[in-house]
Formats: sequence, structure tokens, C-alpha cells
Amino acid sequence: MKDFTCITVTTPVAGVAAIQLSRPKVLNALNLQTMVEIVEALESIEQNNDIRCVVLYGNEKAFAAGADIGEMGDAGTIEMLKRDQFSRWEKIRTFKKPIIAAVSGFALGGGCELAMHCDMIIASETAQFGQPEINIGVMPGAGGTQRLTRAVGKALAMEICLTGRMINAQQALRAGLVNKVVPVQSFIQEAIALAQEIASKPPIAVQLIKESVLKSFSSTLEGGLEFERKNFYMLFATEDQKEGMHAFIEKRTPTWKGQ
Ligand code: HXC
Repeated sequence: MKDFTCITVTTPVAGVAAIQLSRPKVLNALNLQTMVEIVEALESIEQNNDIRCVVLYGNEKAFAAGADIGEMGDAGTIEMLKRDQFSRWEKIRTFKKPIIAAVSGFALGGGCELAMHCDMIIASETAQFGQPEINIGVMPGAGGTQRLTRAVGKALAMEICLTGRMINAQQALRAGLVNKVVPVQSFIQEAIALAQEIASKPPIAVQLIKESVLKSFSSTLEGGLEFERKNFYMLFATEDQKEGMHAFIEKRTPTWKGQ
């Protein structure tokens, strides 16, 4: 993996790539370069069959405190359009392998939206989630009003977006925004362990499950059920389906080929 300036990419355990946001002085504010690098890293990971799951994290103090305000303050509409920063977010949205956000400290604005682009969120006890754009004269722009509402419901999403108030890790857990709250010392390890478990599963089934769950956000129940059913049948074309079912009957551990 090439050297980046705003992120660091490692392989902490086999099958798992870890992307760390590394602009700690500005609480990992998401400048354009960071977004370009995240997308480049994901594109490379997508091509790498040895990597089956991704963990995205910042540091103890901040996952990311939002889009880089310094970069946006004087931009006009045309400049924002030309930057077309949201096409990069689309690449994250359509990434095929599971991504787990490990969040400690601030996940605000674009930072909260980035965490919500991920498929699961492991939060440290100090995590704080919010959409404070209202306090700087704008509004969420990368899914905050949509994904947050789907995750926590209308009432809490309205409160968070309209007041700019943050919610803490326990509130986020109760609201269904995060999977688990763990001590600060172990939030990255917990996310890596979860990623490692997913990385040990048959990869084509993992990909189709991710696609099918995400489909529920953009389809009717009927359309989603049909999508799911076809994906289910499709898995019977894989060697891993034969291996998984035969291994069960033969009472042995399956060996996945990803085919
Ligand atoms: C640029 C940022 C930043 C940001 C923090 N910093 N957030 N720089 N963009 N989003 C910088 C500060 O300027 C400061 O730099 C350093 O990080 C530390 O921040 P402090 O404010 O000194 O820390 P603290 O007092 O602990 O307060 C933390 C904080 C506060 C509550 C998170 O920094 C804050 O309110 N940040 C802005 C949060 C926000 O509004 N996010 C939404 C952005 S809009 P110096 O040089 O002074 O040390 C957005 C739109 C998304 O995200 C649209 C889709 C892409």
C-alpha cells in the first residue's frame, strides 16, 4: 500500500485492513486530501482478495470532528460543485467489503456521517456523536439527515440536527447507532476482532449479505425480499456453499475459497 499523508493503512491481522485518520492536530477534520486518500485506499483494498474486512478509526480524542471548516469557509456554491466531494463519499457507500468504524471521542458532522457510512460502529466510552453543522450556518450534507434518522428515528435525529447537541456513547447504543460500547483502551482491538471474525467467513456470502442489508434502505419490502432471495439462490453457484454444507454434515471445519 502506498504512503499517504492524511491516513495510515496497515494490516493488523490477516484478512483485515485498518485505515487510521491521521490529522490529530485538527481532530482529524476531513479535508479533500483525506477523502481522496480514503477512496484510493478502499479502491486498492477492493482489488485485494486477501483483505476481507476493513476497520476505520481515528484516535482516542477524535474519530473526526467534521469536514475541514478551514477549507470550506470561503468557498462558493460553484466551487463546492466543482470540488464534487460527495462523489467520493459515493465510493465509500458502494464499497463491497464490510467496514467497521471504531469511534472514540468526537464523531461530528462529516465525521459522524463517515462513521454512519460504515456498516457497524464500535464506540469507546468517550465517543460523542453529533451533527453540529447548524451552529456554523449549514446542515448535514453527506447523509446526516438520512442515515441518522434511519438509525435513531425521527425524534432524536431532529434534536441532534436542529440543536447541534451531541449524544454520548451510551445514548448512541440505546438509540441503535452503535453496536457496542467498550473501554477506550480497547476500542480499536474490539473492532479488529469483529473484523477478523467477519474475515473468516465465506467472502461471497459476506458481500451479498452486506448488499442485501443495505438494499433495505433503498427498496420496498417486496423488492428487498426479491433481491435477498435471488442472492440466496446465487450462492448455490459457489464452491463455498458446497463446502460449508458438506463440512457441516461431515462434522468438520469448512475451508473457504472465496469461489
Ligand atoms: C477544521 C477543526 C475542526 C474542523 C476542530 N478543528 N474541528 N479544524 N475543521 N471541523 C481544529 C480546531 O480549529 C483546533 O485547531 C483543533 O482542531 C482542536 O480543536 P479545539 O476546538 O481547540 O478543541 P476542543 O476545544 O476540544 O473542541 C472540540 C470540538 C470543536 C467541540 C470538536 O473543535 C468543534 O466544535 N469543532 C467543529 C465541529 C463541527 O462544526 N463540525 C462540522 C463541520 S461541517 P487549532 O489550530 O486552533 O489548534 C461538516 C459538514 C459535512 O462536517 C458535510 C459533508 C462533507
